[in-house]
Amino acid sequence: RKKVTMQTLKSLYRKGEPITMLTAHDFPSAHVADVAGMDVVLVGDSLGMVALGLDNTTEVNMDDMILHCRSVVRGAKSAFIVGDLPMGSYEISPEQAVESSLRLVKEGRVQGVKIEGGEELGPTIKKITQAGIPVVGHVGLTPQRQNALGGFRVQGKTCPSAMQLLKDALVMQEAGVFMFVLEAMPPEVATLITKRLKVPTIGIGAGNGCSGQVLVQIDMTGNFQPGRFVPKFVKRYADVWGEAARGIAQYRDEVKSRAFPSQEYTYPITKEELEKFEK
Ligand code: KIV
Ligand code: NA
Repeated sequence: RKKVTMQTLKSLYRKGEPITMLTAHDFPSAHVADVAGMDVVLVGDSLGMVALGLDNTTEVNMDDMILHCRSVVRGAKSAFIVGDLPMGSYEISPEQAVESSLRLVKEGRVQGVKIEGGEELGPTIKKITQAGIPVVGHVGLTPQRQNALGGFRVQGKTCPSAMQLLKDALVMQEAGVFMFVLEAMPPEVATLITKRLKVPTIGIGAGNGCSGQVLVQIDMTGNFQPGRFVPKFVKRYADVWGEAARGIAQYRDEVKSRAFPSQEYTYPITKEELEKFEK
């Protein structure tokens, strides 16, 4: 498969072909997403929650992101790779945001960065773009701001809120955003925003009218204990947890009963050498 570039994504958008995006947080999850044909692999700061066991994304820092971006880049040879700017790495000033973005590209080796927020980020996005770094904007439910949003809540459910989302997206597009993630909003709102923009939108909990879709891999592959809370928009396409749990339980039983390792999993020695050794 040929390397997916910004041009590839633009051409998919022009043709009206949905863009596929999935998160990956390490080498194997990146490798499988790439081989399965994802156009974009996102090293999301959902890392903190689904891979590091934190309650939210606020504690994720630049060093975490860089370590995981580097691992993902080694696994995904074809997909376009985007890394999240974590909370605290871009809010202080446009300069801080450029510095963090440069680190994600130079040390994390990703091709683009994603930034959560709205119209207030205009000057910041402009600076990052001017440094030659493609920027994905993330509007709607922005998990880094959950404390201000009053939790993980659906956005754009009233006219003023939907209008603000549209305004945010238009200002961010003007500042240089080349693609958006639209998270947790009514499908009609996401569809209208998508129609008003000149760049692709990737929806998560935002319905079918976006230019593409994204999910968190650990959620959609069912790599978590059944019963754990998952957002309404998560469709469970596989049962990785169930398969892993089944295999591990069998391994435990076979170790306890000495059924494992049977001969096929061992290294032979010649009879001659063995006799000498045993003497
Ligand atoms: O961190 C993440 O995985 C994300 C996606 C849910 C879009 O931002
Ligand atoms: Na994120």
